[in-house]
Amino acid sequence: MIPWEFLGSAQVPGNGGKLSLYKRGGEFSIRVDGCELMNSRAHGSEDALAELTCASIADRPRPRVLIGGLGMGYTLAAALRLLGPGALVVMAELVPEVVKWNQGPLAGLTGHPLQDNRVNIRTIDVGQIIQTEHKAYDAILLDVDNGPEGLARKGNDWLYSRAGLNAAFAALRTSGVLAVWSAVPNRNFVRLLRQTGFKVDEHLVRARCSSGGGQHTIWIAERAS
Ligand SMILES: C[S@@+](CC[C@H](N)C(=O)[O-])C[C@H]1O[C@@H](n2cnc3c(N)ncnc32)[C@H](O)[C@@H]1O
Repeated sequence: MIPWEFLGSAQVPGNGGKLSLYKRGGEFSIRVDGCELMNSRAHGSEDALAELTCASIADRPRPRVLIGGLGMGYTLAAALRLLGPGALVVMAELVPEVVKWNQGPLAGLTGHPLQDNRVNIRTIDVGQIIQTEHKAYDAILLDVDNGPEGLARKGNDWLYSRAGLNAAFAALRTSGVLAVWSAVPNRNFVRLLRQTGFKVDEHLVRARCSSGGGQHTIWIAERAS
């Protein structure tokens, strides 16, 4: 059995936990305070987050997409595969070290998506962008935590609150899509999305690309007007 090799750690700003990056052979793991946040062997749902979203917006002229949470870059890479040359993807990542890991040891996992000239990488809380931009995005994809239940950062609760969802609604263009990843289903959150004015579809997707593994939840919430 190959032992895990510690590659680095970083504090999540805003009362968050400690993120650590580990490697074992060709496998990578990001942990929050010792608990696994994600593993490079299981990225089916991270890919699906982009696939389910981009299916409905890829044919728009010059689509603008905001992604919150770089992680290992799977959602970003999947979005770039589906979007055309005129697209712009604003990639918001809170932790500067995560960006460095994606420019370094993690870059080859996903084909160096940060080098794509359609990507504008910003080291920032995605909530700050959502609060300040209006009718700016065709899609906003959120995978910043374990979902509305949280794990890494208490400050992310705002994103899933009534105020956060109202701000996301305002940041979207007409017929724009808010896509949210979650480890588990959450009925109260779906109700809140609907109360905000979104039309909501819930998808249960495989955690891994191949069959087997657990299931994760993705909500595709469309701003109807
Ligand atoms: C589960 S990972 C994202 C996985 C990603 N979808 C992928 O394909 O690899 C969560 C990421 O969100 C980042 N993050 C947490 N809170 C954030 C926030 N408020 N704004 C931007 N990024 C955030 C974390 O540092 C971490 O890199």
